[in-house]
Amino acid sequence: MILLDGKKISDEIKSEIKVSVEKLIRKKERPPHLAAILVGDDGASLTYIASKIRSCDQVGFKSSLFRYNSDISENDLIKKIEDLNINREIDGFIVQLPLPKHINEQKVLLSIDPRKDVDGFHPTNFGKMALGLKSFIPATPYGIMKLIEKYDIETEGKSCLVVGRSNIVGRPMSILMSLRGRYGNSTVTLAHSKSKNLAELTKKADIIIMALGIPEFLKYDMIKKDSTIIDVGITRVEDKSKRRGYVIKGDVDFDSVSKKAKFLTPVPGGVGPMTIAMLLQNTLDARL
Ligand code: GUN
Repeated sequence: MILLDGKKISDEIKSEIKVSVEKLIRKKERPPHLAAILVGDDGASLTYIASKIRSCDQVGFKSSLFRYNSDISENDLIKKIEDLNINREIDGFIVQLPLPKHINEQKVLLSIDPRKDVDGFHPTNFGKMALGLKSFIPATPYGIMKLIEKYDIETEGKSCLVVGRSNIVGRPMSILMSLRGRYGNSTVTLAHSKSKNLAELTKKADIIIMALGIPEFLKYDMIKKDSTIIDVGITRVEDKSKRRGYVIKGDVDFDSVSKKAKFLTPVPGGVGPMTIAMLLQNTLDARL
């Protein structure tokens, strides 16, 4: 089994980004500037945002965090976004999801200027991505495509099963894997909560992308020998023996699946760090 080492690959990508930033600085230009909007105090969102800000520091980006209470109105949030849209010091920004229930997520995402939408969630970017045009690609699918490219995993004509149809991961992933290209050209199946006989589908797949959110769901007897397994799951499972009180579990039963798969991502250290590296890449592209 070959471990798809997202930590290592993301460190390489971040080093390349850092070199690009140093070039800008030598030319007396300002570094890229990523801003993030965080509404409320969801623990997982706070962790992700902290990690994104730390990564900005590592590569020499400027970062800004705008935090609001969970009772902020939809209108006020959209006003903040409109401020960022016209702020010439900010190259790209993200609105961390999920948002509180009283806020319409689609309306908020629509208010982001697509040129600053480094998450690639605006319909303009999503549409361009689906057409295979240059756009900001959502960071998690982009990171998975990068891993596939770096490890030169054969995708043409392969059966690829994506499990989970979220707008952030599953659906864009299903589109990218079916696009024409060196790393694409797969025969894609998109499974979701209403799919029947999931194990029948997983057993037939050459490539499985798990974005289901059920810890250790995918087991040894559910996969084909020498398949490629990408684990996007990051569920917090209570573990009182840990200082934090929880451990992070992926959607894949790593120990058993590693005995049968050819390529496998670990959790942590697989898709997670790639997501952050690609968000930085999108921000650099927004600056240049
Ligand atoms: N919530 C979970 N993943 C993401 C992401 O990639 N971007 C944003 N903005 N929110 C998220």
